[in-house]
Amino acid sequence: MSNRILVFYGSYRSDRAGIRLAEFVVQRLRRRGEDVELIDAKAINLPMLDRMYKEYPKGQAPGALEELARKIRAADGFVFVTGEYNWGVQPGLKNLTDHFLEEWFWRPAAIVSYSAGRLSGARAATAWHGTLSEMGMVVVSSTIAVGPISQTLSVEGMPTGEAGKALEHAFPRFADDLMWWVEAGKAQRQRKAPPY
Ligand SMILES: Cc1cc2nc3c(=O)[nH]c(=O)nc-3n(C[C@H](O)[C@H](O)[C@H](O)COP(=O)(O)O)c2cc1C
Repeated sequence: MSNRILVFYGSYRSDRAGIRLAEFVVQRLRRRGEDVELIDAKAINLPMLDRMYKEYPKGQAPGALEELARKIRAADGFVFVTGEYNWGVQPGLKNLTDHFLEEWFWRPAAIVSYSAGRLSGARAATAWHGTLSEMGMVVVSSTIAVGPISQTLSVEGMPTGEAGKALEHAFPRFADDLMWWVEAGKAQRQRKAPPY
């Protein structure tokens, strides 16, 4: 039976490059038989955080928040595809995630980072690790780090050159790690309801 995985990506830039990697992750997880949806923060375009989802009276949250809360609660696991702006996280994705808290609890998350340079967004990945833990997700040990993004994936999201080969090589083990924890979490939630 397939698992429900949400892949988050949050650049708002007109010429954004990370969408290639987000689409690559979606396609590769689908090939493994998973039920995967790309959550593109720019497409959802939430306003800067005012009220969190839970701060709205029941049934009165804006439609986009209600829909996203439902999807997050129903997911078995998450992948965060993150670029790096000035050694930090991308504001669009951070803004989207901050709208929720309890909705994220009790599921594993994996981090896929990228950048225009060789450091592959590693500093943003490190920052996300703490943030996702604070939001109640268990962050799996394996990560993917892609850089330079434009030498690794074509505009169509196809791996290119040596960097593309390295990504192809790294992805199966990364996915094995995430999906092992996804299945472990799913089995445990069926066996015993989360304590809070
Ligand atoms: C505002 C800004 C800050 C950036 N800061 C960094 C950085 O700190 N480290 C890095 O490796 N690349 C940095 N870059 C280059 C990005 O890695 C590159 O533009 C990447 O494609 C951004 O992701 P996106 O295209 O999906 O928006 C920065 C780019 C922008 C626009």
